[in-house]
Amino acid sequence: MNKNNKPSWDLSPRQLCDIEMLLSGAFAPLKGFLNQADYDSVLATMRLADGNLWPMPITLDVSARFAESLQLGETLELRDPEGVLIATLQLESIWAPNKDLEALKVFGSNDPLHPGVYYLHHQAGAIYLGGTLTAVELPEHYDYRQHRHTPAELKALFKKLGWHKVVAFQTRNPMHRAHQELTFRAARELEANLLIHPVVGMTKPGDIDHFTRVRCYEQLIKHYPEQTTFLSLLHLAMRMAGPREAVWHALIRKNYGCTHFIIGRDHAGPGKNSQGQDFYEPYAAQALAKEFEAEMGIKIVSFENVVYVQDRAEYLLESEVAPNEAVLTISGTEFRRRLREGLEIPTWFSYPEVITELRRSYPPRHQQGFTVFFTGLSGSGKSTVANALMVKLMEMGGRPVTLLDGDVVRKNLSSELSFSKEHRDLNIRRIGYVASEITKNGGIAICAPIAPYSAVRREVRELVENYGGFIEIHVATPLAECERRDRKGLYAKARSGLLKGFTGIDDPYEAPERPELKLDTSEVTPDECAHKILLTLERLGFIKY
Ligand code: PPS
Repeated sequence: MNKNNKPSWDLSPRQLCDIEMLLSGAFAPLKGFLNQADYDSVLATMRLADGNLWPMPITLDVSARFAESLQLGETLELRDPEGVLIATLQLESIWAPNKDLEALKVFGSNDPLHPGVYYLHHQAGAIYLGGTLTAVELPEHYDYRQHRHTPAELKALFKKLGWHKVVAFQTRNPMHRAHQELTFRAARELEANLLIHPVVGMTKPGDIDHFTRVRCYEQLIKHYPEQTTFLSLLHLAMRMAGPREAVWHALIRKNYGCTHFIIGRDHAGPGKNSQGQDFYEPYAAQALAKEFEAEMGIKIVSFENVVYVQDRAEYLLESEVAPNEAVLTISGTEFRRRLREGLEIPTWFSYPEVITELRRSYPPRHQQGFTVFFTGLSGSGKSTVANALMVKLMEMGGRPVTLLDGDVVRKNLSSELSFSKEHRDLNIRRIGYVASEITKNGGIAICAPIAPYSAVRREVRELVENYGGFIEIHVATPLAECERRDRKGLYAKARSGLLKGFTGIDDPYEAPERPELKLDTSEVTPDECAHKILLTLERLGFIKY
């Protein structure tokens, strides 16, 4: 509740994308978040209750606790994370959705490897609110303002430029020459102008960030004939729902004034399911969108893949290639490997300026930051080896090195924390956060806490790997040896019952299952341990002699 007693909800990143699309008219005919009747109808028939075609449930999910305080008919304030009032919602429905059913209807699957299904079950709130919106102000963006447009602005621009036929291209990836060839062909064959309309709201987790992608698009667009092509960013939150998503994407482009929409192979598909198969048939999205073409009022331009034919030094549609002609391809995985290892990427695949932009954001491993994360019992030798490693890395130079030793962190970052499970996890999360920031900025973080619990170690790994390397070192010196050393006299205290909850004595240590390296300091000197770590770092490509 706020001062005027109206209930207020802080919008999640996905809801912020949705509300911007709702308020700008990109989601017309929707006037707000779906009420229950529209939601049920969209799931069952891909239509709103009034019969209008609409394939995607756009819902306002909230926690059960928040929903308890609400009453139908009242007005809810919707705010961005800074508290700015974006819109109000006249509450028409409050309900608990059947998420299993929603997953099966929208995604055709309840497999948690589908990012849309995962979001639905693990991030979306338990209760949905529906109702009509009244706009207060559109969410503000400070990045790439020159490339952002509302549907009304784009329509007015097309009118001013005399663009009667506009074919839109949707993408969530950097564009290479194959994409350019495909869009060229579409525009040429239709005698249309081209709108490059990449999604910059939310795409598949793990995708290349939009800042980098937009710099790539800006480079690529210089290679189109002047006055033919326009770049505009779409602040959409994708669901990766394949066929339903394709229909949705087409309707959105119609709202932006486009007359044609390109759908390629496996449009908005999220990759493989837990059985190792594609979630959707490669041409299912084209087929479904084609079915509704007339009703939508936008033409679907279906394309198969274009491939590079070496002998002809040109791109062709797969079906145009003769059986004896050699075709060159670089898969997404191979492309990322070449980027990571700083290997050559041929100019037939992508323009050098585009590759330069990608290399700036994704340098090879030996130029990335990384975290060396030691874990092991008290007295196992973590700090000694960490110190030896630190000075060797400093000798080599090139990157700043920070040591986050267990004891030092407890003094400087976590002085108020105890050794309960909850506090230990919080301590490790703090270390992980600092390490991830160091890694992001190209430095080396060496962490040496006990970190006895595997779940929070995995969390830290996932966080750090967004920005660079994570190398886990299990210092697996046996408990008997740690206890024999007992430099701080803590094991004796723990054995005598003076110290409770001591790791290895009366508190568990969960050993890592797949550390990058396992060391036992009762067998190897600290110097040799540090050397083994350097060899591991070299093998993984993080250091280069
Ligand atoms: S944790 O679990 O990762 O948060 O622990 P950490 O912060 O690395 O612990 C730092 C040092 O605290 C001393 N100490 C204890 N360790 C384990 N269990 C209990 N109950 C405990 N109480 C104090 C211990 O000396 C740790 O230092 P190291 O360098 O590992 O010996």
